[in-house]
Amino acid sequence: MNVADFGDRYRERIWETHIAEDFERDVLAGLSAVQKTIPSKYLYDALGSALFEAIVLLPEYDLPRRESALLERYAPHIIDRSTRRLRLLELGSGSSQKTRTLIEAAIERYGSVEYTAVDISLDAVRNAAVQLLDRYPEVTVRALVGDYFQVLGEVAPQPATLALFLGSNLGNYPGERGVAFLRAVRGALAPSDMLLLGVDLRKDRALMERAYNDDIGVTAAFSKNVLARINRDLGAEIDIGNFKHSSVFDERTGSVESYLIAACVASYSLGRGRGTVSFAAGERIHIESSHKFTHNELRVLADECGFVERGFFTDEDAAFALVLLERGEEAAKISGL
Ligand code: AVI
Repeated sequence: MNVADFGDRYRERIWETHIAEDFERDVLAGLSAVQKTIPSKYLYDALGSALFEAIVLLPEYDLPRRESALLERYAPHIIDRSTRRLRLLELGSGSSQKTRTLIEAAIERYGSVEYTAVDISLDAVRNAAVQLLDRYPEVTVRALVGDYFQVLGEVAPQPATLALFLGSNLGNYPGERGVAFLRAVRGALAPSDMLLLGVDLRKDRALMERAYNDDIGVTAAFSKNVLARINRDLGAEIDIGNFKHSSVFDERTGSVESYLIAACVASYSLGRGRGTVSFAAGERIHIESSHKFTHNELRVLADECGFVERGFFTDEDAAFALVLLERGEEAAKISGL
């Protein structure tokens, strides 16, 4: 089966992206910076995405199971907060697996639901759409394929939307980037629309670090794959064996910071006349920030971005939370949205 089999129950719009050019530019800039860095979005090529699917099965990485349990428990309550038949707009929809709980609750309450999936991967969106359309005759799917900021900047607000940003993905947008992201979401919502966030909470340091340093090395493989991608896509010659993965919670940033650390002094070709990149022994490449929120921090962030908290649902040990926000009438602070 494919999306064409579902007629007008499926519509899609695809934005043009320049992933190859962006990757080359960002990698060259990031590896020539004083603190070497590779933006975390480049962790997700085909192999990286497959490795991430394995991460979510790791006993150490319990975020997805905690989130699913909260969705199972609170989905009907969250859907009941809306007063009219609503649209679901999911940012970073991926396989849309977890969203099923909310889709089912919406069907139960309103009889049908319009689901808009926003994702950078056309294959992921189409595969997820086929599953949903086949399973739920009450669902229509609209796929918006592109970079979040690109898509959010162009979609017209549709009243009665519940936007979803699950999977602790907000944690990968620390500081100002998170503010910019939430303001962009607000710009795509109408007054009184809602946004549901799934966020990992600040907890015992050992527990937070364990989730990113698993015993069998899947997370290490996921991290190192970004070097393999540089070799594959740019023709670079980085010796991946010289790098060790390490994730540590940083009190200053409130995030688990992930690095690839060079064991020995080395210099590698970046391929096709792009020169070389040199490492000192122990030098780190920053590859990901996974922010761990406090409730208060989330309240301040929501307020700064023009949202009002309407619900905070957490588990017994306050490890993970679903945060339900309403787009406020007042303009977001500073940006004047
Ligand atoms: C996708 N994102 C929320 C994950 C996280 O927890 O930051 C990515 C991840 N990186 C290593 N493990 C999981």
